[in-house]
Amino acid sequence: MIRQPIVVVMGHVDHGKTSLLDKIRKTSVAKREKGGITQHIGASEVPTEVIVKACGAMMNLLQTKLEIPGLLFIDTPGHEAFTNLRERGGSISDMAVLVVDITKGFEPQTFEAIEILRDYKTPFVIAMNKIDLIDRWVPHPDSTFLASFNSQPQEVQEELEKRLYQFVGRLSELDFQSERFDRISDFTKQIAIIPISAKTGEGVNELLMFIAGLSQRFLKSRLHLKAKGEGRGSILEVKDETGLGTTIDVIFYDGVIKRGDCIVFGTVNGAKTTKVRALLKPKPLDEMRDPREKFSNVEEVHAAAGVKISAPGLEHAIAGSPLLVASKADEARLKAEIDKEIKEVLVEKGGEGVILKADTLGSLEAIMKLLKDEKVPVSRAGIGAVVKKDVVDASGIRNQNRYYGVVLSFNTPVLEDAEEEARRSGITLIKEGIIYALLDNYKLWVEKERELERSQAFSSLVLPAKLKVMAGCCFRASHPAIFGVDVIAGRIKPDYGLINDKGIAVGKIKAIQSENESIAEAKEGMQAAISMDEPTFGRQVNEGDILYTNVPRTHAKQLLGKYKEFLNPSEIELLGKIRGILGDTFVTSSHD
Ligand code: GTP
Ligand code: MG
Repeated sequence: MIRQPIVVVMGHVDHGKTSLLDKIRKTSVAKREKGGITQHIGASEVPTEVIVKACGAMMNLLQTKLEIPGLLFIDTPGHEAFTNLRERGGSISDMAVLVVDITKGFEPQTFEAIEILRDYKTPFVIAMNKIDLIDRWVPHPDSTFLASFNSQPQEVQEELEKRLYQFVGRLSELDFQSERFDRISDFTKQIAIIPISAKTGEGVNELLMFIAGLSQRFLKSRLHLKAKGEGRGSILEVKDETGLGTTIDVIFYDGVIKRGDCIVFGTVNGAKTTKVRALLKPKPLDEMRDPREKFSNVEEVHAAAGVKISAPGLEHAIAGSPLLVASKADEARLKAEIDKEIKEVLVEKGGEGVILKADTLGSLEAIMKLLKDEKVPVSRAGIGAVVKKDVVDASGIRNQNRYYGVVLSFNTPVLEDAEEEARRSGITLIKEGIIYALLDNYKLWVEKERELERSQAFSSLVLPAKLKVMAGCCFRASHPAIFGVDVIAGRIKPDYGLINDKGIAVGKIKAIQSENESIAEAKEGMQAAISMDEPTFGRQVNEGDILYTNVPRTHAKQLLGKYKEFLNPSEIELLGKIRGILGDTFVTSSHD
């Protein structure tokens, strides 16, 4: 018996990986993805009958009968941050389809994918996608590439060939020989380039046939089921299913798993074991993450396959963790293996840094990478819902560094008491389903915090102002003295100290009133009554006196430094004058 080959679909973001699988499955997963990007590994099976039926007479070209039971396709994200998931996809697969947008050519993640495939010695073909976007291309929906190509106008054919040879050139720079699939002379040496359109379906059947044929021809020995291979898989998702409780969706890539088997898997509290209660298989051609039909119950599953497992104690299983079938003797060793893998990602170091919660190990790793690139430290990174402790800890962190006192949540629920604690303590929760948006929103929040900090700091500084004591406006002579002033320039606030034009301190503004109301500020052009405890009207203060705010030297320095933009030219000039009266020789020009 030979098993299904695992075929990973890789490529730069938006080059059409999910669309290609949609075309093969006749699904529309790509359209339903958040932000139109793939952020997880997906899995779907394409049985051989479907391939044979789709390819029809073309199958004769293979000159052999397909023995593989089908193909298990793994979809991967193309966004830069998901290198980890591409690596994981690359490491468990037998073959790869590298999707390259014909209008864009080779881009950073195309090269990255090639390096991963080279590292793992994974054979691959190139799907040169979006040929329908070539100028004046005449679409022939679902036709073979060759039939459609031969009926295109000559300049369209030439354009396609030109771009194809650009691909060949690119690959040759990377030490790979390649050729259009129908012109290949040696399949062991040359990489096949298959022009396709995931939109119109042109070439997609040739691609399918090619992958099936190549994998059977060159990977047969690898695909023979190992008699006693250790059962191995990777958890894609942890889900509650009615009637089943918590289940896990797994890509099972090695060995066999049976009902009743003992499995070892990762949880937030380290590796755990349980017994398989039920094994459920998605219907062929369904994306495991987004199935159209119900799963069917089976006794055992052979790699490679997507399988849903129901078992007690899966509540704390973490997506992205390995899943291993264990005999009693192996249990401890396998647990240690899984523990090591989880510990590399989960962070619990405390100290200054943000608190991050995500839905899977894979997304957590990807976000950690983004945060690291942005030099944002992480205090704790965990899997699962945001809980009250996350928020409480973020409050503590805020006291040390306001820019890290925040909880980032990617695709995870926020428990009610956590939400309430956040409201109570004023901690910001940034919730997002797209990793880039999560980071962008964090950066926006930091910007806002910075603005807030600036304006808080600015408003604690004494600003320059020039006042004239009004004639006939003394309401009370002392304890406190209350008298009217004209604000000639600048602004005054309660608590500001005042000096006269000789630099002698007069006292502190206790309160400011305008039309019998207390006000927080009086600005240039306003008249207001001020009260002061220290002076007696007629002695330290007199009608017609010019008073200034007593701007301390340290405040003046800050105002002329980082807060200069908050002052107008006349305030800057006034500030220089005030410091001059106080004996400083600040040179302040409103133009510098
Ligand atoms: P990530 O998973 O985020 O890396 O993207 P992806 O490679 O899976 O790309 P996806 O399938 O989401 O397609 C990206 C965009 O390209 C979508 O708007 C598709 O409709 C469009 N697209 C994909 N294939 C084709 C094609 O053959 N022709 C045209 N015209 N558009 C295509
Ligand atoms: Mg995708």
